[in-house]
Amino acid sequence: MADLSTTWMGLKLKSPIIAASCTLTGSVEHVSEAARCGAGAVVLKSLFEEQIMQDAARSLGGNEQRFFYAQAEDYIREYSRGDALASYLELIRASCREVPVPVIASINCVSAGEWVQFAREIEDAGADGLEINIFVMPSDPSRSSAENEQVYFDVLSAVTKAVRIPVAAKVSSYFSSLAHTARALPSTGIGSLVMFNRFFSPDIDIDTMELKPAPLFSTPEDYCHSLRWIAMLSGSVGCDLVASTGVHNSETLIKQLLAGAKAVEVASVLYLKGFEEIRTMLEGLEEYMDRQGFASLSELVGRMSMKNSLHPAAYERSQFMKHFSDIS
Ligand SMILES: Cc1cc2nc3c(=O)[nH]c(=O)nc-3n(C[C@H](O)[C@H](O)[C@H](O)COP(=O)(O)O)c2cc1C
Repeated sequence: MADLSTTWMGLKLKSPIIAASCTLTGSVEHVSEAARCGAGAVVLKSLFEEQIMQDAARSLGGNEQRFFYAQAEDYIREYSRGDALASYLELIRASCREVPVPVIASINCVSAGEWVQFAREIEDAGADGLEINIFVMPSDPSRSSAENEQVYFDVLSAVTKAVRIPVAAKVSSYFSSLAHTARALPSTGIGSLVMFNRFFSPDIDIDTMELKPAPLFSTPEDYCHSLRWIAMLSGSVGCDLVASTGVHNSETLIKQLLAGAKAVEVASVLYLKGFEEIRTMLEGLEEYMDRQGFASLSELVGRMSMKNSLHPAAYERSQFMKHFSDIS
């Protein structure tokens, strides 16, 4: 029987499917269910930088308004009523007690502010690792790409200095030179890049002329962007790569591993099909490995990366020339 174990940032995982940070991983019951269904690790629902600062302000007795970030104010007021930090630390402790797989805490942030000190409390609560979901929207025309990208380095360096547990950076592909930045980011001490985050996006209701949220969940076709970049960066970045977005079935799981991902993170499929789907995907992987004669994941991971592919240029191709000529 094939060995499905893998390693991620020095952590040993019994399988390459990680339950991604989402509202489901905000309860111990769901975290336990993910582990029961075969998840190799679980990333808890994120705590937001703004929540940390708000609670910090409250406990200091200061004017909490000064810590508010304009864009997040309404959301934070609604979401973090009560002691968000204490509840989060309790979620970590309880999950670590209940679940026999690595429990990764998660923080969403946009700057290297005072919140970074809270990472130590996360470590003390027993988290096996920390995933930093970091995104600077490159929408301010007065800021250069270098200024925006520096934020990533500042945040990740500050966090890895603050804790001893492994740190993953969950990023988007919004970089002016993604390959260059991805190669440079491990100098901050991170153990993994998770590629890519999927964002809340606004949409327009054409009848009411109001904004509405775009579809919350990914589709099974959404994996290709991540697949291309995992394949192109695999073997040339000094940390583990994890694929995120659009992994809904065992076929996509296998593709991402072949491209070079050490593991995948899944969220949408858990909402759409339930945690049992993790088991189904692992059965599909095992059946594939037996059929192809792979005894362990180390024989499979990266087999179709750009470096190992017979047609590496195909990963770089971005125009439809051939398809335009074929399609009438
Ligand atoms: C309802 C929902 C809540 C999410 N909450 C978080 C979150 O708190 N922190 C985070 O880093 N990602 C969050 N995500 C993003 C997922 O972790 C994941 O990166 C994204 O959905 C892409 O993976 P998927 O295609 O498997 O859904 C959330 C996704 C969904 C659908």
